[in-house]
Amino acid sequence: MAKFLVQKSGPLKGEVTISGSKNAVLPIMAATLLTEDKCEINDAPDLRDVEVMCKLLESLGCDVDRKLENNSVEVIPGKDVKGEAPYDLVKMMRASILVLGALIHRTGHAVIPLPGGCAIGKRPVELHLKGLKAMGVSIDEDKLSRGIVDARADQLTGNTIYLDFPSVGATEVVMMAATLAKGTTVLENAAQEPEIVDLASFLNKMGARIKGAGTDTVKIVGVDSLKGVKHSVIPDRIEAGTFMIGAAITKGDVLIKNVVPSHLKAVIAKLSECGVAISMTEEGMRVRGDVNPILATNIKTLPYPGFPTDMQSPFMALLTVAKGPSVVIETVFENRFMHVGEFNRMGANIKTDGNAAMIPGDKVLEGAQVVATDLRAGAAVVLTGLVAEGMTEVSQIYHIDRGYENFVDKLKALGANIMRVED
Ligand code: EPZ
Repeated sequence: MAKFLVQKSGPLKGEVTISGSKNAVLPIMAATLLTEDKCEINDAPDLRDVEVMCKLLESLGCDVDRKLENNSVEVIPGKDVKGEAPYDLVKMMRASILVLGALIHRTGHAVIPLPGGCAIGKRPVELHLKGLKAMGVSIDEDKLSRGIVDARADQLTGNTIYLDFPSVGATEVVMMAATLAKGTTVLENAAQEPEIVDLASFLNKMGARIKGAGTDTVKIVGVDSLKGVKHSVIPDRIEAGTFMIGAAITKGDVLIKNVVPSHLKAVIAKLSECGVAISMTEEGMRVRGDVNPILATNIKTLPYPGFPTDMQSPFMALLTVAKGPSVVIETVFENRFMHVGEFNRMGANIKTDGNAAMIPGDKVLEGAQVVATDLRAGAAVVLTGLVAEGMTEVSQIYHIDRGYENFVDKLKALGANIMRVED
């Protein structure tokens, strides 16, 4: 298995260009199933999850042409789309559930095995199914009890649907399903993430009639058909946030290009509280950790526009070396502190109690053998490895490959002392 070897590095300096958003490109690729025409998706990051989504669409009968050289993916769903997603692909990526809504329209009968839980939580899909049932989809409850979503519908009908939790995936699946339903759907307590807005703009380009994406109420007026379009996905706000932490924790000075500051308001606010100097320039966002001492702060993760759960572990990396104690509360996932044990192997001395973590701060970390427990936690232990004394060996880095394009090259270009080794 491949590993990262990370040595204590000097301040990160220079510029980094952020890739397209993983969490925008995956639902947009799923949405191509809503048309028979060719769709061209640009700024698609070269990630394992994108590769798996390409394979999934191919397994469903689509022609997929991934042009790595210019980060674009062409999908021609064509006429004979199949309704069954193969388990060997679905188990590699839980985002496979995102094809459900579109697949029901195309085939009238979709079968998607559920990958089940992962390190950060059970990852249920009852809200996705609640929305689809409200639109007239019937779910085989016996198969569901065995972890298989078997959904049938001859015609979907618009309805008013309330999401008990602003689930990103449920919002995306229901929004896609509603575009071709008869009548109007109103989705209440919808997720408001920028990736929802990007999906809605892709769907509206295709001819959908969606209003309110990015707010907690989304209205979708069903249309008869959608056409193929070209679209460039938004930059990855979590990758950008990760490099902001890299600049902060190493007391560096990094220019982050291809970033939308308004997607990072909560992260910018909290980093500024810690004394990180952040300024917008013509070329991008300049982040300096060399201006003030890095101070402690408290973090509570919330659905967007609150502090993003995906930034919880990278931010905790910074708090391990900040001046003074911090508290981090994780409210979105039920088990997203797996990285605490890894930070503690480096001397962070973090205590957890339920969904709260107490970080004493003021630590001089020591390099250790650590694992990436999820893709964001993997990036987080690389960040602590940059400032820890000695060598940090990060294993299970396939998690990181899922969400960070050219992570090692981008860090090396900023002066990080990191290399990838194959076992
Ligand atoms: C998306 O996952 C992202 N993935 C996640 O990013 C991100 O952490 C998450 O949204 C929250 O922002 C993609 O977009 C591909 P949710 P998703 O449904 O859609 C509970 C990363 O690091 N819930 O908003 O699965 C659920 O258990 C990944 O890039 C229900 O209870 O997230 C969780 O606790 C990790 N019932 C919470 O909601 C449901 O039916 C958030 O889940 C659905 C969700």
